[in-house]
Amino acid sequence: MAKSNLDTAVSAALWWRGVKSRTVPAFLPLLFDEHRHLVLKGGGGSGKSIFAGQKIIERCVSEPGHRFLVSRKVARTLRQSCFHQLSQQAREMYPDEVEVIPRGNSSEMYIRFRNGSEILFAGLDDVEKLKSIHDITGIWIEEASEVAEGDFDQLDIRLRGATKYYKQIIISFNPISINHWLKKRFFDREDKRVRVHESTYRDNPFLPEEDRLTLEAYKETNPYYYTVYALGMWGVVGKTFFHAQNVQEQLEKRILPVRVGRFAYDYDGLAISNIRFVDDDTSFVRIYQEPSPGRPFVCGGDTAGEGSDSFVGQCLDNVTGQQAAILRSCYEDGMDEGLYAKQLYCLGQYYNEALLAVETNFSTHPQKELERLGYKNFYVRERADTYSGRTAKSFGFQTTSRTRPMVLGELQRLVREQPELIVDQTTLDELLTFTFDEKMHAAAEGDAHDDCVMALAIAYHARTQQRNYDAPNANGRKPWTKGMWEDYRNASAREKEQLLAEWGDPA
Ligand SMILES: Nc1ncnc2c1ncn2[C@@H]1O[C@H](COP(=O)(O)OP(=O)(O)OP(=O)(O)O)[C@@H](O)[C@H]1O
Ligand SMILES: [Mg+2]
Repeated sequence: MAKSNLDTAVSAALWWRGVKSRTVPAFLPLLFDEHRHLVLKGGGGSGKSIFAGQKIIERCVSEPGHRFLVSRKVARTLRQSCFHQLSQQAREMYPDEVEVIPRGNSSEMYIRFRNGSEILFAGLDDVEKLKSIHDITGIWIEEASEVAEGDFDQLDIRLRGATKYYKQIIISFNPISINHWLKKRFFDREDKRVRVHESTYRDNPFLPEEDRLTLEAYKETNPYYYTVYALGMWGVVGKTFFHAQNVQEQLEKRILPVRVGRFAYDYDGLAISNIRFVDDDTSFVRIYQEPSPGRPFVCGGDTAGEGSDSFVGQCLDNVTGQQAAILRSCYEDGMDEGLYAKQLYCLGQYYNEALLAVETNFSTHPQKELERLGYKNFYVRERADTYSGRTAKSFGFQTTSRTRPMVLGELQRLVREQPELIVDQTTLDELLTFTFDEKMHAAAEGDAHDDCVMALAIAYHARTQQRNYDAPNANGRKPWTKGMWEDYRNASAREKEQLLAEWGDPA
């Protein structure tokens, strides 16, 4: 008895050693992952396909009675890719467990194991064959970027009912377009049943040197290929309006907000008081830089039109130009013009009564509401007063055929010269999908949004109406900058005394 326990332990240890030696480390934790959708996004040669095959074979061997379906768009391509790969893997990993693998080009594609587990192959274009496959216990969709969302849904429905082991669909693909349904479905929203994984060739220690060099050479020859296949990031087709490489490099930094949440406040029907920031990962305000005392900020706002537009507020540090915070929400998430105005009010107050420049084209309601709430610091535009014929001053920003190209042009230059100022992922995504159409009219690609871009452009444009230095504090001195604090910390005791005398109290 003791001996057989020992045998089991030894064979388990040997098995694990084998698994570790043949698996790309970045994928190892996914071997036991039980989410319904295991989404493998990655560049070329990262090891997605090999790993999907490894996991399926491990499960077939250790969980008897599986019926895995492996599918991609076109049946013809399945044989050379998945069937070929899985046959080879099965023979290498568990030669004694394999029962049948038909050979020859004309024969059926399937793999059967001695314990009854099977792997079946069907292209999405082979409707008859797909229909004939029943009682599936798991699915791998290879090159899912080729697959329509409707076809995916059909497969998803096929995997239901009672099975002995957990049901999982593995989805592997290259991120060929930032507007792909895969991004919207699996990356742009929270879903507890989904596990997403991102990988690149750099994760794969087994990749031949030659393949690595090919991928890296795209950097010089083809920026789109480099983005998708080397960096494993969502690709953008079409002529981008903003400097794509700069935006890409910012995205690669994957800068995270320091806080995520929303503003809570007391409201008595007239005024807002007791503003505080409530941390909540699912909420719509992302803070990248907290306000420091006396620091001036500018906030640009874009109101949602009809449909799927968002309400956006973009907040900038007006000394450095750095993007400090973003507020972004839509009707679907329960936002409306009134709530938006109140959140903007709080955002402005939180950022030292920032200058607010809100777009008043679609609706003047948020601007009016901000005025009613008693907000004090607004962007002022000049407009021709039709009644008196003189120019009058109004609050808020008006997007016209004259102002739109102007503010977008200003932002275009900024992205070219100082891309490091923009840090928010959603904003950077939108900058990438902002393209020229045939009439050289800059607009969001396909059904992509441009609210973050417009709000940002308005914020940058409004900067000249806000001071660009820290306000002096009560003792008439400017608050210390980060650099001053650093110098002070590194100074000797004697130097510290001198610095204090020179700069005054930091508070
Ligand atoms: N055990 C292994 N795991 C992963 N990759 C391996 C392994 N052994 C060899 N490789 C090499 O890594 C290459 C890339 O792996 P794989 O085909 O899984 O990448 P991929 O992420 O599916 O790429 P693509 O997006 O181009 O389809 C293989 O073709 C092979 O040359
Ligand atoms: Mg692959």
